[in-house]
Formats: sequence, structure tokens, C-alpha cells
Amino acid sequence: MFFKNLYYTILFIVLNFILIIKVDSTIPNKSIQSNEECVTNIVNKYSKEANTKYIKYLKLIDQARRNYKPCNENRCNCHAGVMSHDLKIFKEKGISEKLINNIKSKGTKYQIINHKLYRDPNCMFPSRCVGIEHFLLEIVSDLPDMEFIVNTRDWPQINKKYGFFGPVFSFSKTDEYFDIMYPAWAFWEGGPAISLYPRGIGRWDNHRSKLGKLGNFTKWDDKIPKAFFRGSRTCSERDPLVLLSREHPDMVDAQYTKNQAWKSEEDTLNAPPAKEVSFEEHCKYKYLFNFRGVAASFRFKHILLCKSLVFHVGNEWQEFFYSALKPWIHYIPVNSDATKEDLKELLEFAINHDELAKEIAENGYNMIWNNLKMKDITCYWRKLLKKYASLMTYKPKRDQSLIRIKQ
Ligand SMILES: *[C@@H]1O[C@H](CO)[C@@H](O)[C@H](O)[C@H]1NC(C)=O
Ligand SMILES: *[C@@H]1O[C@H](CO)[C@@H](O)[C@H](O)[C@H]1NC(C)=O
Repeated sequence: MFFKNLYYTILFIVLNFILIIKVDSTIPNKSIQSNEECVTNIVNKYSKEANTKYIKYLKLIDQARRNYKPCNENRCNCHAGVMSHDLKIFKEKGISEKLINNIKSKGTKYQIINHKLYRDPNCMFPSRCVGIEHFLLEIVSDLPDMEFIVNTRDWPQINKKYGFFGPVFSFSKTDEYFDIMYPAWAFWEGGPAISLYPRGIGRWDNHRSKLGKLGNFTKWDDKIPKAFFRGSRTCSERDPLVLLSREHPDMVDAQYTKNQAWKSEEDTLNAPPAKEVSFEEHCKYKYLFNFRGVAASFRFKHILLCKSLVFHVGNEWQEFFYSALKPWIHYIPVNSDATKEDLKELLEFAINHDELAKEIAENGYNMIWNNLKMKDITCYWRKLLKKYASLMTYKPKRDQSLIRIKQ
């Protein structure tokens, strides 16, 4: 009896030992382990002094870090999942001439024939077409014959629930659309014009190097510990932050600027309009807010390069590079229906967890700096159009109504 018990005890110990080893070996590698340690330390470090209301945010950060797998930064690979996702719906039946004819009216027609680029003579927004063609001309010699429809409007065209179906390229969309996302024209030209940037916000490569340096050389501790926002009242999602700013100017500086449609102070939520502020000026503040505009906001990538902590409001509107940016890793996600009180609590959390805030700000900077080079934009276009062409079920014939586009 005694020996039988001893036998089971030893067996039990041995089995446990095996189990422990097994569990241990499922921790894939050191980088994840150290993230876990780091978060556990963070929770321990703050849980005593912090109000329990912050614990939920710490848990979300912990969870995000456990699930986070850094992407392979070679050859625009961090964004590769997006084009696969967008093209999936065309995979089974392919892209036929009929499908293209279906949706011809939804955008501008382009053709690539014999490594030459052609376009409909009319482009709805000429500078946007120039911004697109800059990239197409760089890669046209690598591409097979194809034709495609590019939507240069802000709004996507192929709603999943109703209307037309076919492959339309759009720069931004929500989950409700089948549009294929392409890198916005504004990386080169055709970005929104405001009084500070009367000829459009200008080339991304220029902003990238200027802001990238500023982000690196402005010390975190030298930044003004306030949340900052300037923009016009394109949607009321922005109101709670502006109202919070009026109650707590010590914590938030958020004001509405004029847009073209401005008539009275009612359009700036009953206050005089504020001046527009350059991206560089944003970098002086620790916390920056990004709201959607009509579709996605062009501001997001710029303010991430400030190496400030970005609060990104709403996750419906996407651009091709958004899915590489993970909530709680690269930015703080904010629900689009967040109230003034929600915003205040989130901000207080960031203010009370300065090291964490700084770390997330650095992660955001690195993701954009490393994976949104001009080279990555060109790379995305090239891979996207090659994949698209491989789904075409016919060989396009030169459309004589199109004009040749040259450098
Ligand atoms: C280590 O983990 C990272 C993040 O999940 C992953 O990208 C990398 O491939 C892993 N390396 C090894 C050797 O498993
Ligand atoms: C900023 O610092 C990062 C990390 O040290 C570096 O990779 C990057 O090249 C720097 N950016 C600029 C514009 O100097």
C-alpha cells in the first residue's frame, strides 16, 4: 500500500514536471517572454497606487502585447495581408471584362499595355491622378498588360450590401465595402489644401524626413504634457474633445479651425475659429488626437512621426497601412462614441503611466518610420497590381479612347 502510494506520488511529480517543461516550451521565444514580464511588472508597479479604473487599460495593453507578432519589415511585407484580404473576393471567379464594364463609371480607367501607361483623358481630380501616376510610372516597366478602374473620390464605391460589384481601387474604406485599397495620391500630390498648405499638404517623403528628425530630437520630457488637436468640424465625433478642452485647458488644447464652409461661430461649436497649425507644431505636445475626416484622415501617419502618444478615434475607416498599426501597441484606440468623461479618463491614464505612454509613442514612430518609406509605397503598388493582373481572365486590348501618360 505504502509503495503503491509512493509510486503514484512519484508518477504525479514526474508528470507535473513534464507538464511544466511542456508549458514552458510553448512560450515561443524570448521577446514575447520579456514583454510579459514587462507588463506584469507594470501592473504590479502601478496597481497599488493607481485607481482600479486604470487596471482595465493595463490589461488591454498586456493582452495586446501577448498577441502581437512583429511583422517582417522587408519589401512592404507588413502590409501584405491587406491586399490579399481585398483581392480575396475576386479569387474564385477572377476578374472578367464584364466585371470591369460593370463598374467603369465608378472611377478613372487606366490601362497598362506593353509597359506603357494609358488613362481616360478626363480625371475628376487632376492633381490626384498625378499623385497616383507618379507611382504607376515608376513600376510600369515591371507590370504585365492589364486594365483597372481607380476611384479618386474620397468615398469608396462598392458597398457589400447593394449596388454594383467589381474591382474598384479606392484609397480608403470601411468593412462595408469591397473596394481594393491603394496608397493615397497624397503620398505624392493632391493632398487636402488648407491655408497653411495652400497647394496641398505636399509630398510624404519631405514630411517624413522633417517630422522623423523632429520626432527623434524632441525629448519626451520636453514635450508639453497636454492633448492637442486642431481641425475643422467635419464631424461631431470631435466635439467631446473640444468641450473637454474648454473645461480643462490645463489638460487639453483642442480647437476647431475654419473650413471652406464656415459661416458663423456655430460651425466651430460656438467659439471663434482657431488658426491652423503645422504638423511640426503638433510635435511639441505629448498627446495627439487623430479623428477621421470625410473618410480616413491624412494626418495619422504624420502625427505618429512626432513620437508623441497618438489617440486614434474610431477604427472603421482604413487605409492600406492601418492594419500594421496595432491598438495599445502603436497607439491608444478610442471609441468613436467616446464621451468627454471617457476621454478624460483615458488621458489621465496616460498621464499617470508616463513610461508606458512613451513606449507606445516610440512603437508608433518606429512602425511608420520603418514601413512607410516611399519605397514601401511603390512596393505596395507593384505587388498589388501584379496580384490583380494575375486574377484577370482576359487579355486587355488597347483602348484608343485613352491617352498615354508619360513622366
Ligand atoms: C520570436 O517571436 C517573434 C514575435 O512573435 C517572431 O516574429 C519570431 O519569428 C520568433 N522567433 C523565433 C525564433 O521563434
Ligand atoms: C530616429 O531614430 C531611430 C531609432 O534610433 C532611427 O532608426 C531613425 O533612423 C531615426 N530617424 C531619423 C530621421 O533620424
